[in-house]
Amino acid sequence: MLDQCGRTIDYLRLSVTDLCNYRCQYCMPADGVVKRPHTEILTLEELVEISEACIACGVKKIRLTGGEPLVRRGIVDLCRQLRQLPGLEELCITTNGALLPQLAQPLRDAGVDRLNISMDTLRPDRFASITRLGSLETVQRGIEAAQKAGFDRLKFDAVLIGGFNDDEIGDFLELTRTHPWEIRFIELMAMGPCAAWDKSCFISADTVLERYSALQQIESQGVARRYRLPGAAGTIGLISPVSHEFCSQCSRIRVTADGKLKGCLHAREEISLRGLHGQALQDAICQGILQKPKKHHLAERPSDTPRNMNEIGG
Ligand code: GTP
Ligand code: 5AD
Ligand code: SF4
Repeated sequence: MLDQCGRTIDYLRLSVTDLCNYRCQYCMPADGVVKRPHTEILTLEELVEISEACIACGVKKIRLTGGEPLVRRGIVDLCRQLRQLPGLEELCITTNGALLPQLAQPLRDAGVDRLNISMDTLRPDRFASITRLGSLETVQRGIEAAQKAGFDRLKFDAVLIGGFNDDEIGDFLELTRTHPWEIRFIELMAMGPCAAWDKSCFISADTVLERYSALQQIESQGVARRYRLPGAAGTIGLISPVSHEFCSQCSRIRVTADGKLKGCLHAREEISLRGLHGQALQDAICQGILQKPKKHHLAERPSDTPRNMNEIGG
């Protein structure tokens, strides 16, 4: 359906848990999050019911997010149920990849269409340091498992962080010469722990274009401006919410793991969907779409949402 700014809203980002097996420095406090009681988190049945209602309101694509979606118990079963919902065209997951060695094949069998994998660095020591709990070697095994299972349009998300990985842009670009992947550089958004970081940590995505003039522009897709190195098998994406705000083309709504509909990642306003069913649930979702804010204000101030990213799912 159309929102009040004339944007078609057809993409739901559904957070299935706020828990994560990493503690990325920009996203979560070192000691993790206070574990919410189970009862605060949507059940699998509620996740399916909300998805169904969103589809009735015009959603065609669902992306499961987290925290880390693959730590949610019953995730494979949930994917199987969601994939069978009439009207859903694409079911995707954004994951940190740590559980893909064992879950890639079951997820593929359950009907998941596409995976995006977060990978901020290609160096094992840096990877361990930024994620606090992660191992690059495990993610690499996860990538192999994903390819073996038939996920062939893999995208990788790297958040650009000044003084941390801005010297690896060239190494990421090199990967696309031989792999048919999309590597996406994302601007750091000031929210949660990183809202207090020094300004030098923010690197504009245009830095990639300034440093690598050989990149040739190709058609954009979703929120990513896209490029290719001449002759390369894969592509590069630039996601620049701060320097090139893309709100006028935003097609998304979000639902948090505790059942709050968010019209915008960065807005404070939320609509509780819990306890609603049938027409009342659809009406609440329509209301959320109609109230979707025109834009965020990241260029002027940190995110207005009091939540950390792990509760919203990006
Ligand atoms: P595709 O379906 O492959 O186009 O994926 P996607 O780009 O929608 O999903 P992904 O989870 O890979 O998102 C990539 C990055 O973009 C994440 O870091 C998100 O936080 C960020 N992002 C996604 N949607 C939005 C949005 O609506 N606003 C802002 N500011 N950032 C977003
Ligand atoms: N700014 C930009 N991207 C972020 N992510 C998490 N926190 C931030 C932030 N503050 C990214 C993760 C993952 C995706 C879901 O969101 O690295 O790729
Ligand atoms: Fe986990 Fe993603 Fe947050 Fe990293 S960015 S701690 S992988 S939820």
